[in-house]
Amino acid sequence: MSITSHPILTQDGSKSIKSDRFGLPYHSEFGAITESMYIYIDHGLKAVSPKEKTVRIFEMGLGTGLNLALSIQHRAEHQHLHYECVEAYPLSWPQVQALDYDQHLSASAYQALKAVHEGPSETPIHVTEEVSVIKHLTQIETMKLPSDLDVIYFDAFGPNSQAEPWSKPVLKACFEALKPGGIWVTFSVQGALKRRLRGIGFELRIQPGPPGKREMIQAVKQGNKVSGDVSLEAQK
Ligand SMILES: C[S@@+](CC[C@H](N)C(=O)[O-])C[C@H]1O[C@@H](n2cnc3c(N)ncnc32)[C@H](O)[C@@H]1O
Repeated sequence: MSITSHPILTQDGSKSIKSDRFGLPYHSEFGAITESMYIYIDHGLKAVSPKEKTVRIFEMGLGTGLNLALSIQHRAEHQHLHYECVEAYPLSWPQVQALDYDQHLSASAYQALKAVHEGPSETPIHVTEEVSVIKHLTQIETMKLPSDLDVIYFDAFGPNSQAEPWSKPVLKACFEALKPGGIWVTFSVQGALKRRLRGIGFELRIQPGPPGKREMIQAVKQGNKVSGDVSLEAQK
């Protein structure tokens, strides 16, 4: 299923897409790359020690794949990356190509972006020797999340626009899918969301936001390790 959408130019000179289905841009109009770098790379990927041999990331809402490409480009040298993501309304490669991210990304990150958009779902895509990606083309509400994650990038449309991805069962599954010390990051600081995250057991670190946003959430899992895959169905 593909959603109707059209490119927009954001204030840092990088492009994004506006979804006609949701009536919303995929990134901040103050700067798509600036926002992705600040929230997901600086407060997600970079919160993991560069000494970790492998980083395991899950992204809610692959969209254009900008967070994926920036993660490949900015991981520590020789660090392995296992990236899984979910997308309910996948974009086609020509839609992503029209955003000219080749002008902002390294050649290898851009090649990886193309390989993931054109590649199969539900099966590992080895984009380099050190990076593997699995994309799940479904709704997060119905999937089994991967386990032992270091970081979750939670990049759904905002909770006032779509409630389901931000529901307690989904957030609880995120909590259980993280390693102890694992980090869940997002752009939203909605009050009800903060209360829900604290109720599940996350420790919230409210950070200054990227341009155009006062704050953002970096939520840390404290507690005992939970191993094995986590089924959302089992938690309803
Ligand atoms: C804010 S955009 C994400 C932007 C994306 N991370 C990027 O860098 O382009 C939200 C994304 O979540 C996807 N989405 C919306 N509802 C979803 C759901 N229930 N399950 C999985 N993906 C969903 C949308 O299609 C869209 O691609």
